[in-house]
Amino acid sequence: MKRFEGKAVVITGGAGGIGLSTALRLASEGAKLTLVDISEDGLATAKQQVLESSPQAEVLTYAADVSNEEHVKGYVSATLEAYGSIDGFFNNAGIDGKRFPMDDYTAEEFERVMKINSTGVFLGLKHVLAQMEKQGSGAVVNTASIGGLRGWSSQYGYIASKHAVVGMTQAAAVEFAAKGIQVNAVAPGGIKTPMAAEAMAKLNPEDPAAAERQFTARVPAKRMGTPEEIAGAVAFLLSEDAGFINGHVLLVDGGQTCQ
Ligand SMILES: NC(=O)c1ccc[n+]([C@@H]2O[C@H](COP(=O)([O-])OP(=O)(O)OC[C@H]3O[C@@H](n4cnc5c(N)ncnc54)[C@H](O)[C@@H]3O)[C@@H](O)[C@H]2O)c1
Repeated sequence: MKRFEGKAVVITGGAGGIGLSTALRLASEGAKLTLVDISEDGLATAKQQVLESSPQAEVLTYAADVSNEEHVKGYVSATLEAYGSIDGFFNNAGIDGKRFPMDDYTAEEFERVMKINSTGVFLGLKHVLAQMEKQGSGAVVNTASIGGLRGWSSQYGYIASKHAVVGMTQAAAVEFAAKGIQVNAVAPGGIKTPMAAEAMAKLNPEDPAAAERQFTARVPAKRMGTPEEIAGAVAFLLSEDAGFINGHVLLVDGGQTCQ
């Protein structure tokens, strides 16, 4: 199935676990891609992997910090120069942040996480939606988290930032729905990526595998999700199959949030 033939899709965090898996999936369905990431080396590897699996794919890479407005304008312009439109946008870059009880959680750390996970998503929405409005079409998926719908102790910046992503998704969906644009979010549970490995190591530095076993014991599916499972959900939400879905937050969490 080639749902993205001729379509240009921008993916932020495109060098990371979920971003790269989504790039591989969308390229296999015909998309022309702009991969945006703060890691230049990561982008080079990601481009190589996409081209190995989809040799016909067009892949532009753009090194940028998503929390810097000039960089955001830069990846939008570069995509327009290369492809002439932005038909899909996976607004996905994010960081995990530190885990501390409230007493030790500093305002600086809170602001650092908010700046990338929330301001970065806002800036992406602002500049990509302006282009989609001109086109009269487009689909956006923001990456929230189960932490955008629930709280847990010790990750104040992350939880706040992901709740903000859910709120911005709904606000933008309302503003842009009549303009032919959908804005949805995906809310992953624990997904096996470098970020999850980092999180497990923070939870139990001596034995990250034990932290993962403890985590999965609480998931009804009894396992972590895979980045490919997020990619499938994102591809659906960016495709015309999801044409009347707007402002939705799609949980992909093995049932974790139902409990
Ligand atoms: N892995 C999980 O369990 C999980 C669960 C819920 C939500 N998420 C969310 O999914 C998204 C992707 O995470 P992942 O698991 O693929 O993590 P990852 O660490 O593998 O990928 C994140 C990517 O974002 C990039 N990045 C970080 N800061 C950036 C910045 N300022 N500008 C541009 N790029 C930046 C990193 O270089 C990295 O390539 C994040 O928003 C994360 O919060 C992940």
